[in-house]
Amino acid sequence: MSDTIMKDNSHPYVHGHSDRESERLHFQASKLAELLHDGTRYPPKSRVLEAACGVGAQTLILAQNSPGAEFLSVDISYGSLAQAKDRVLQEGITNVTFHQADVYDLPFKPETFDHIFICFLLEHLADPLLALISLKGILRPHGTITIIEGDHGSAFFHPDSPEAHRIIDCLVQLQRQGGGNALIGRELGHLMTDAGFTDVTVSPRQVYADQSRPESFDGVKKIFIAMVEGVCRQAIEEGLADKEMWEKGIRDLYRTTEQDGSFCYTFFKAVGRKE
Ligand SMILES: C[S@@+](CC[C@H](N)C(=O)[O-])C[C@H]1O[C@@H](n2cnc3c(N)ncnc32)[C@H](O)[C@@H]1O
Repeated sequence: MSDTIMKDNSHPYVHGHSDRESERLHFQASKLAELLHDGTRYPPKSRVLEAACGVGAQTLILAQNSPGAEFLSVDISYGSLAQAKDRVLQEGITNVTFHQADVYDLPFKPETFDHIFICFLLEHLADPLLALISLKGILRPHGTITIIEGDHGSAFFHPDSPEAHRIIDCLVQLQRQGGGNALIGRELGHLMTDAGFTDVTVSPRQVYADQSRPESFDGVKKIFIAMVEGVCRQAIEEGLADKEMWEKGIRDLYRTTEQDGSFCYTFFKAVGRKE
């Protein structure tokens, strides 16, 4: 147990590894499954590496959508991997195995995998280009890589609120202090090309919530606002916000999910190939 905790603390992860964050990741993956996994299906017998599977939220969707493919899902966190394994077992999924690994230093032979899938990882890395180059090494020629990332600069809403934008910016700054980049979605195209992938395409995938689709407000609250709320203590401790401003920002974010409100956010999905 202490070994697990020690290893989980050995790398910065701005959202932490709490049960609440684990549930947020599962809710996020299931709510956005259609939007983000559309177009991602792997042929039977293909070997797919899922890099940074976390608690297995995307793993379940990947494995169910491509039941004939063989997934190897890795993460740096032993604690998250243990949760991912339990969840996959509970769902009766048999085409996934798990391995602890750091994407900068992958313990696989060159050209081992037919495809690579990454979701919400690059935003947390200090050197995403190096990670992509490392991943390219274990992909076979003509194999594909699929990357999904958010971009917190893409959030806009009604009623608009400077305090709401400021607390979102606190999250961006905290992630930057940890070496990450919460605005990485807009950079996927050049990062993949710089890493040497070809046939790179990037598709923006937009979430939009308003009264014409009231159920979509639930996603805004439980995915986006919950993520911002999760860094409240850190933001105040680091002096990025005071309590009053933070509370007003959160109130204003919730206000966008009322009858006359609206909320918009864009994810970016990029696909490329190794020559
Ligand atoms: C936001 S979670 C995303 C998990 C999952 N892909 C999802 O969408 O639910 C980011 C994950 O990246 C993992 N991670 C961070 N740095 C890593 C590294 N260098 N190598 C492997 N995994 C890493 C963290 O442990 C965490 O589980």
